[in-house]
Parts: sequence; C-alpha cells; structure tokens
Amino acid sequence: MEEALRSFFLQLAKNKGMNDWARRYGLRFGANRFVAGETIESAIATVRALNENNMAVTLDHLGEFVADEQEARASADFCVRTLEAIHEAGVNSSLSLKLTQIGMDISEELCLENMRQIIACAKSRGLWVNIDMEDFERCQMTLDIFTSLAASYDKLQTVIQSYLYRSLDDVRALAERGASIRLVKGAYKEPASVAFPDKADVDANYLKMLDVHLPSPGLTSIATHDERIISYAKEQIAQKGIAKAQYEFQMLYGIRNNLQQQLVDEGYPVRIYVPYGDDWYGYFMRRLAERPANVSFVMRGMFQ
Ligand code: FDA
Repeated sequence: MEEALRSFFLQLAKNKGMNDWARRYGLRFGANRFVAGETIESAIATVRALNENNMAVTLDHLGEFVADEQEARASADFCVRTLEAIHEAGVNSSLSLKLTQIGMDISEELCLENMRQIIACAKSRGLWVNIDMEDFERCQMTLDIFTSLAASYDKLQTVIQSYLYRSLDDVRALAERGASIRLVKGAYKEPASVAFPDKADVDANYLKMLDVHLPSPGLTSIATHDERIISYAKEQIAQKGIAKAQYEFQMLYGIRNNLQQQLVDEGYPVRIYVPYGDDWYGYFMRRLAERPANVSFVMRGMFQ
C-alpha cells in the first residue's frame, strides 16, 4: 500500500496540468509546512530565523523541467536575484538549483550559459552554489556540467543519490578529484534497471558512499533525516577525526525539526534546505511520496 502511494505521488509530481493549476492558486494543502512562502522576502525572513538558531541554509527558488527558453532565462535571473538577496541581507545561505529549471532540457549550451551567469554572481559574493540531482535520465549530463564548471569555481557542489547502482563509482571518482558533494537517498521514481528497489540496499549504499567521501578533501554534506545514518556518520566523524569544515548535516525545511535542533545543540554543523517560490507543486508531491503519512497535512490544509 505504502509503495503504491509513493508511486502515485511521484507520478503526480510530473503532472504539468496540476503544476500549472498550483502555480495559479498559490501555496495550498499544507505545502507551507515545507515551503518558506512565495516571495524572496518571506524566504529571507525564514533564513534569518534559522541562522539565529545556528543553522546555515541553502535557498532554492523552486522550479524544474522548464521547456521554454524565456522561462529558463527568467529562472536563471531568479537564481541571481536570490544570491543578491542573500548577500544584501548578510545571511548565512548558499543557493541550490536544478539544471532543468535553467534550460537543461532545451539545450546544454543554454544551461551552461545560464549557469555561468549564476556562478559569476556567486563568485563576486563568495557564495556556494549547489546543483541538485534530478532523475536518472538527467544524471550524466548533470555530472558533466558540474565537472566542467567546478574546474573554475571551487564553491560548487552537486548531489549523488544512493538509490542508483552507478552512484558508488561516481562518488569514488568525485572524491578522487576533491569534489564537494551532498549525499542523498534519491527522490524520483526510477526503474529496477537503474536503481535499488529495496530500501535496505539504498541505505547500505548510502553508508558506503559516506565511507568513501567523508575522508576526501571535498565538503561532504550528509543530507538525510535517517537517524541510523546520522549515528553512523557521527561515529565515522569521531573515529576518522574529520574536521568541521569538511562536513555538514543537511535536512529539509519542516522535516524532523527536533532532530535538526538536536544536532545543532550537540555542536554539529547543520544546513537546512529551504525552498521558496510559486513552483512548489512537484517538490511538495515528492515530500508526500517520501512519507504518505504526510497526507494528513493535505487533508487538514483542504479544510483550512
Ligand atoms: P528516509 O526516507 O528513510 O526517512 C528517514 C526518516 O525521516 C523517516 O522515517 C521520517 O521520520 C523522516 N522523513 C523523511 N522524509 C520525510 C517527509 N517527506 N516528511 C516527513 N518526515 C520525513 N533528492 C534528490 O533526488 N535530489 C536532490 O538534489 C536532493 N536534495 C536534498 C537535499 C537535502 C538537504 C535533503 C535532506 C534531501 C534531499 N533530497 C534530494 C531528498 C532525498 O533524496 C530523500 O528523498 C529524502 O531526504 C528522504 O530520505 P531520508 O534520507 O530522510 O530517509
């Protein structure tokens, strides 16, 4: 039943009609539990509040799977404006973005052009940029674009998903080059031909990826709410004497707030992924898919 609901929400996440509807009608159905409002002002206010709690942030101006060039350029402008707002407000935040948001599905050239504009802005302000990982179909191109850009900007990070069979090899190659990466389990619907169907294998592969990347020179962002993985990471950090500048824990805004605070209280570096903007639908559906119990928020939201 849980697997059927997961598939249902992941299928819904890609529904363009529903996405257009959601953009027109604004944050609904309890999505504001996971999304920090639709404007940059509301996002910055959330960043400030988290910073006051000793949590760093990565801000994501929501958007994905853009098929129109003008829209891709507008999205890149939003990324630039987000970086400018972070800098002007003097808050502790990086930027996260998706390459399909800035034109990867249209052409690699357009995507690279937009990325260069974003990186130029980040570079002049000394800010980090993270390239989120999307579905398997886009994995190789995302890694290629990351690799070509990381050569000229060292505050660039990407994401590797432990549910993919290929990922352990990718982590080994990236660790060897000293690349900074965020480790996640993976949030898309993938076939058994490319991804582990069993959660136990996904979790075990996460630990292997952590073993490889943690001692490497790049930053390891341990992005999970899984307490067993977090405990394992803490043990490895202590045993291997990994410096605080070499790793951080990352969690999503609105998920396991108690655990986020606990890590901060224990003195670990913590960064919260904070999405904002009107393109919230796909992101929200993936959060429902991860935990169908979240549907109770939708039900409550419907009657508010
Ligand atoms: P798991 O799913 O096993 O959950 C562990 C526990 O966390 C659950 O038992 C529950 O208590 C809690 N939990 C998890 N999800 C929840 C939810 N939605 N609502 C309420 N509780 C929940 N994926 C991707 O494919 N590309 C990317 O770029 C990113 N980026 C990213 C950044 C950051 C900072 C995080 C934390 C995650 C991502 N992800 C991602 C998402 C990731 O792939 C994965 O889907 C989620 O993190 C859920 O997996 P967990 O590791 O938390 O474990």
